[in-house]
Amino acid sequence: MSNSFELPEGFLWGASTAAHQIEGMNVNSDFWAHEHNELLAGRFKDKSGDACDSYHRWPEDMDLLAGFGFTDYRFSIEWARIEPAPGEFSDAEIAHYRSMVEGAVERGLRPMLTLNHFTVPLWFDERGGWLAHDAVELFGRFVEAAAPIFTDGVERICTINEPNMVARFATLRKMITGADGDVAASDHGYDSATTQALIKAHKKAVDVLGHIAPHIQTGWSVAIANHHVVGGGEDIAAEIALQARDVFVRASEGDHWIGVQSYARVFVGAQGVLPVPDEAPKTLTGWEYYPPALGEALHTVAALVPGTPIIVTENGIAENDDTRRISYTSGALEGMRGALGDGIDVRGYYHWSALDNYEWGSYIPTFGLIAVDRKTFVRTPKPSASWLGAAGQNRSIELGVDSAN
Ligand code: BGC
Repeated sequence: MSNSFELPEGFLWGASTAAHQIEGMNVNSDFWAHEHNELLAGRFKDKSGDACDSYHRWPEDMDLLAGFGFTDYRFSIEWARIEPAPGEFSDAEIAHYRSMVEGAVERGLRPMLTLNHFTVPLWFDERGGWLAHDAVELFGRFVEAAAPIFTDGVERICTINEPNMVARFATLRKMITGADGDVAASDHGYDSATTQALIKAHKKAVDVLGHIAPHIQTGWSVAIANHHVVGGGEDIAAEIALQARDVFVRASEGDHWIGVQSYARVFVGAQGVLPVPDEAPKTLTGWEYYPPALGEALHTVAALVPGTPIIVTENGIAENDDTRRISYTSGALEGMRGALGDGIDVRGYYHWSALDNYEWGSYIPTFGLIAVDRKTFVRTPKPSASWLGAAGQNRSIELGVDSAN
């Protein structure tokens, strides 16, 4: 029986990547330094190294995406390359990202740029990261300096990727370095000072862009997990939701759009977050295989910020079996169709990820539509790439059976 999903008029249809995960040799970034820090050695199975060498091979990546039929591509610009030392901006790197924007447009891919996808320049991290007294100003200065990248071809900018994860990393970092005392239990692993700094940084970037590139529609992308409460964890789940998710979603009020990034759900019991149950089907990241997560996330966000259009800026699965990727994505798209049917204003979908890439410490979780040989960098598209991409041209996609657990 046919089960096709017709894309709404003007619906964005793309794939997502992030600079540190695909470019390679991001040597001036904080994450590169952490990968090489002996104190943190146990935390990183792999170093990013050359990644997918997309710094040089981006034309090939874009050719592939456009060839599958995608009409949109979300990628990030790397602050650590553009400003490798405080106040020292590289015209060559700015020109590099401008070429990428132009290259995308030439191929019929509308670029959505992310200004910050987790990594920051090492010098920024060393002076306190987002908690430094002038962090917001420094981020604003970087956005202003990057202005030549924001040509007419750039229709959308995501200021900060998953600020809620960044607020969580900050707490982890405190635990590792022993800095700034204990982490308050009431924070549930999220550093509230970082949260507030990130909200200010987002608003600063929106403000700067409003002046230098008023044609651009701005937003930020939040990791959205719904909580599955077991054994009386309702109160604690509500507390966690507030700090881990809702405060970031509400901060998008007044923006042109909010990005929803959805992969799975989180189990919460009376003591807090629980591990994924043993019997649950899982993916290569150990997360639950749970395609309805996307539909649920869209309903949650629509309830929190009813007036803000939503773009799915990431959704995907770490999986070696590509048929399971198609099943998972079909289930997720079913959920998105349901949300649209309920009147939720969803404007687009970007799959995570275009390429198998550096999953923040390991190359094992493969999220890509395209496999990448780790030695030769040869790209090999998976069947999911043409299945998903073709919808960009056909404006309709046949959903697979979501039975593969
Ligand atoms: C991030 C990506 C990451 C993906 C899968 C999101 O948290 O934005 O950088 O690779 O999820 O973990």
